[in-house]
Amino acid sequence: MSSTAAAARTRTGLAIETAGLVKTFGENRAVDGVDLSVPAGTVYGVLGPNGAGKTTTVKMLATLLRPDAGEAHVFGHDVVREADAVRSRVSLTGQYASVDEDLTGQENLVLLARLTGHGRKSAAARAGQLLEAFGLAEAAGRQVKNYSGGMRRRIDIAASILNTPDLLFLDEPTTGLDPRSRNQVWEIVRAVVAQGTTVLLTTQYLDEADQLAARIAVIDRGRVIAEGTKGELKSSVGAGAVHVRLRDAHLRPEAERLLARVLDAAVQLEPDPVALTARVGGAGNGRGAAEAASRALAELAAAGITVDNFSLGQPSLDEVFLALTDRTPEEDPA
Ligand SMILES: Nc1ncnc2c1ncn2[C@@H]1O[C@H](COP(=O)(O)OP(=O)(O)OP(=O)(O)O)[C@@H](O)[C@H]1O
Ligand SMILES: [Mg+2]
Repeated sequence: MSSTAAAARTRTGLAIETAGLVKTFGENRAVDGVDLSVPAGTVYGVLGPNGAGKTTTVKMLATLLRPDAGEAHVFGHDVVREADAVRSRVSLTGQYASVDEDLTGQENLVLLARLTGHGRKSAAARAGQLLEAFGLAEAAGRQVKNYSGGMRRRIDIAASILNTPDLLFLDEPTTGLDPRSRNQVWEIVRAVVAQGTTVLLTTQYLDEADQLAARIAVIDRGRVIAEGTKGELKSSVGAGAVHVRLRDAHLRPEAERLLARVLDAAVQLEPDPVALTARVGGAGNGRGAAEAASRALAELAAAGITVDNFSLGQPSLDEVFLALTDRTPEEDPA
């Protein structure tokens, strides 16, 4: 990590700062005034559906696309006027570190390490280290074109962190991967951040942002529609949901009326005839939600309604996304 980057970081504590960033393609305002502040040394999640403008934003920050308006700084360097300084500090998976399909995993990493200034021995050592760490030691001698999707994604990330970058862009690193491969990529991301690298991670998966990111920006149609820690985003849509399972299905209508009254909330009847769900708590008052939930439980007992299972949970990021966009993440915005 360079000392200038470290100096810039201590001045602002920010790896990325953008103000009013815009990119248009013809009539389409793909990025429509994005403001971001990404603290250094963390994973920052940029969450949004297909076409939201995630890749376009990343490309501007990585100096691959020129913004049409607004400003962006990476470790204090302007992405347009000081593009070289920005490039020396960032790495972008799959673009900067292009892996050659016809070479083996080992050959790719050694070649890229040599190209970026490692001596013969040091290149081999670094390649071996990464292949081992990324679970690719066995596949090291195979051509990359014969790798599975998950292996391919891992070698891409390995290539992009040969020389530990100050800022790593991971654009949807786990899209299309099976759960096990996703977990491996998540472990890699955690290890990279533990080394001091800042990671900007774009994803369509709410659970991925939930797992990895300290802060999250939700973007939709080129705009940031919400920003904050996971807890802040969740509490912005209410404190949580009470899930109740009754012993007797025939008591459900009575339980429904009781919960609606005690919780002062709409009660949803689940497909399972003994299950009900109610959203509790307004603007982020977790304690109020817990109190309301325990009152509800006591009143159910007092009314002679046997409860088999009762839980109070935070809303998931999926629910947050729904509440913010009024549509499911899968739905096409067009
Ligand atoms: N080179 C381009 N020329 C024209 N339009 C483009 C170009 N790149 C992106 N767009 C458009 O800009 C919008 C944002 O695209 P972008 O790739 O940034 O979305 P995204 O959030 O990365 O989506 P995904 O999750 O599908 O990767 C889309 O409407 C897309 O069609
Ligand atoms: Mg994209």
